[in-house]
Parts: sequence; structure tokens; C-alpha cells
Amino acid sequence: MNSVASISNTVAKHHLEVRGSNFLSGQIKISGAKNSALVLMAATLLTEEALFLKNIPSLTDINVMSELLSSIGVRIERKSNEISLTARDLLQSELPYKLVHALRASFVCAGPLLARIGEVSIPLPGGCRIGNRPIEEHIRGLEALGASVSIEKGVVKAKLPKNKKKLKGAHIKFNCQSVGATETILMAATLAEGRTVLENSAQEPEIQDLANMLNSMGAQIRGAGTKEIIIEGVEKLNGCNHTVIPDRIEAGTFLIAAAITRSSISLTPVIPEHLEAVFKKLRECGCLINTMGDSVKITPNEITAVDVTTSPYPGFPTDLQAPFMALMTTAKGTSKITETVFEKRMQHVSELNRMGSSIKLLGNTALITGVPQLTGTSLSAGDLRASAAMVLASLSAKGVSKIIGLDYLDRGYERMEDKLKKVGADISREKITISANKNSKEGFKPLTPQSIQQEVA
Ligand code: EPZ
Repeated sequence: MNSVASISNTVAKHHLEVRGSNFLSGQIKISGAKNSALVLMAATLLTEEALFLKNIPSLTDINVMSELLSSIGVRIERKSNEISLTARDLLQSELPYKLVHALRASFVCAGPLLARIGEVSIPLPGGCRIGNRPIEEHIRGLEALGASVSIEKGVVKAKLPKNKKKLKGAHIKFNCQSVGATETILMAATLAEGRTVLENSAQEPEIQDLANMLNSMGAQIRGAGTKEIIIEGVEKLNGCNHTVIPDRIEAGTFLIAAAITRSSISLTPVIPEHLEAVFKKLRECGCLINTMGDSVKITPNEITAVDVTTSPYPGFPTDLQAPFMALMTTAKGTSKITETVFEKRMQHVSELNRMGSSIKLLGNTALITGVPQLTGTSLSAGDLRASAAMVLASLSAKGVSKIIGLDYLDRGYERMEDKLKKVGADISREKITISANKNSKEGFKPLTPQSIQQEVA
């Protein structure tokens, strides 16, 4: 039998190479908030005038949202961290599956698009690595505002009733505090007829940022940042200039980077009140936290174990659960971390244990017994905040770590390795090519820490 000629293909990939145990020092600049910028961009659908946003972070999620909005007719111009968006021309009502699937946050476009053109078809975003990510609260809210909503072949179709030109204000009580649902319905209600009251709204700072911008566009919103938001519908919204708030999750991640390397650094800009729950836990575990205006300085002493339970804002943010767990792996004593917001947000546990940590997982509760030091190894990230946790763990570990899965990291952190390098971390993004023998019986071998280890050792 002829031997099958093996056609070797190479897959260019990158990984982060981290040599641990360096102390950090200096100041890190915090970028604009990803989870604010995304929804602010979607709000352009509510007006035919231009929206100018400043302090936009360079992230893949932002690129996908830009592509999505352009695909339905929004004119977009981007210049470094500024973006202008104009949804003047006829907007398409159908959002493409490929882009919605790539960015779950796209679903917040449904509310503004429905309010603006009277109909929208948007594929169900589907679940992801951290949970099923249902959207029934979004649908309930749109129906309460008078839309008729159906789901056909995985696509949500919402439209105004035949004889109606606008949505109608309503009193809506959410069954759970959902950031996305609050944002979707808040935006739709700005152009509805009459008053809308949202009860059990999410209170995240990103929602306050959205409401502030909508009000400067001419909306009439009160109570954003509390559980009850009142919106008086208006005829139309205008364009405006707006600067995105600093990213509290990025800031929290770098505070933990200082704590885990027992280093003192400062961050700016931050909005201290957005980080109160994080400051509280960092102080409890042995860090001095000093804020001066829009800067914060952290000085860790001995790190001791503390318990954390995630909850909606103003509680401890689920997005910092994985990074904080990395810190607890070398804390003195045993800590308990409970995830209550998402059902599958513990993928980082197995990778941290591969570095020598001692974590036992019981459902969504992790028991972490601190060890003196972790050991660097090859690591594979499974979601955005888990990848950040691995970077942090690698910074404090003995030896070298090689982290793949940077597509996740680049969704939510702007040039993370550059920012860390600037304060003394020994970290670099290395290109690796994996020769995958296409005709071997296994076909392309998936990238694994082991295959990376072989290729880059
Ligand atoms: C936003 O996601 C953020 N994303 C997430 O950040 C963040 O973790 C999350 O809020 C919680 O703070 C953006 O803002 C783009 P939710 P979102 O709706 O809106 C349940 C990151 O790492 N739920 O508040 O999708 C849901 O299953 C990302 O930057 C329903 O049950 O979150 C979850 O358990 C990850 N029904 C909980 O609510 C619904 O209809 C919170 O979800 C909607 C949500």
C-alpha cells in the first residue's frame, strides 16, 4: 500500500512565556472598560446622529462589535482609542450568526434596533465555557414593551405589532439581576411611548455609564446604578461625545498581580468606588490599599486566606473570581471561594492544580489550601478570566510558564504582557509553529500544553 505522503502543515500560534518570581514596581495605565464600550457602541443604533466615543480599548471583542454594527449599516471610523459611529442609513434588521456567535454581548443590539426600526432578527447567542447564558429576561422585557417575539430555528425574531409605530412603556420586574437584559431593555425603553419602570435591575457601573451617555443624547433616565430604573420615553435621541469609564476588572486584575508577587504598584485611572468590594477583600487578606483621586496604590504584606462569594454589583465581581483564586493558592491558610453568578466558571482550577496548588472543587465552591510557591509549566486557557488567572499565577511561580489560548486573553485585556513588562515582569509573547501532520490518522493534533512543551522546550 502506498505510504501516504504526509503533508505537514504548520499552525502559527502564540503563547505567553513568563519567568516567575520577579517583583513589580511602578504604575500601570488602565484602559477603557470593555463591558462599557461594547454596550455604548450598540447604543448608536438609537440615533441617526454621530456618536463619538473616547477611551475605547483595543480588544478583539471591540473589533467584533465594530464588524457586527458595520454589517447592518453603521458607518464606523476608528482612530487609536477613539471611535465614531453613525447609524444614519437604512439599517438591516438581521444580525449575522457568525458575529453574534463570536460575541455574546451582541445580543444587546436587539433592544435598540427594535426600538429604532421596529423589527430585529438575532440568532440565539448560545452558551459558552462559563455557562448557558440564557436570554429569557431580554425576551420577557421586549414582550412587556409590546413587541411580539418568536424563536424560529435558533433565531429570535422581534417586531412591533402591525398597527404600532413604537414600543410602549411598561413596569418590568426582572427575575434575576442581569447586566445584559437591563442594558437591552433600558435602551429600548428610551424610545418607547410613556414611562418604563425596571425593577430588580443590575447595578453595575457599566450600566450607569450607559445611562449617563443616553441622558446626554437626550434620554430621560433616573436610578441607573440602583435596582429601580425609571425611563421616560422620548421622540428621538441625538448624537454625543462620551468617554468610556476605566475598566474596573482590568484594574482588579493588576491589583491582584501586585498582591500575588508581593509587590507595590499603582494604577491610574480608576474610579475607586467601582472597586470597593475588591479593595475590601485585598485589605482583608493583608494588603494596604491607598487611593488618591483617580489613582490607587497597593502594598501587600503577608497574604492570608480569605473567603469570597461572588455576587452582582456591588458584590465581589464574578470576573475577578479566577484571578483572586490564583492569589489564594499561595496565601497562608485555607480559603473558600464560591461562584454564584455563572454555573461553570471554575475551569482554572485544574490548571492551577497543575502548577502545584491545592484546590478541591465541590460544585461551585473551591477550597484552596495555600502552598509556599507554585511551579511554572505549560498552561492552556479556557476562558477570558481564567487566562488572566494563569498569567497571575505564572508571575509568582518558580520557573517558566508557557500559556496558550491567548485568543481568550486578548478579548478582554489590552496588551497585558506589555503593561506587566513595563512594571518589571519577565513576560513575552512568543510565536510558535506547530507542525501538524494533516494526513496522519489523528489529523491535526489539537494544541495542548504537552504539544507546546515539545515544540518550544
Ligand atoms: C455581563 O455579562 C458581562 N459581559 C460579563 O463579563 C459579566 O461576567 C456578567 O455581566 C456579570 O457581571 C458584558 O458586559 C459584555 P448577566 P451578561 O446577564 O450580561 C443569568 C467578562 O469576563 N441570566 O448579568 O451576559 C446568567 O445565566 C464577561 O468580561 C439568566 O438567567 O451577564 C448568569 O448566570 C463574562 N437569564 C447571570 O444571570 C437571562 O435572561 C448573570 O448574567 C440573562 C442572564
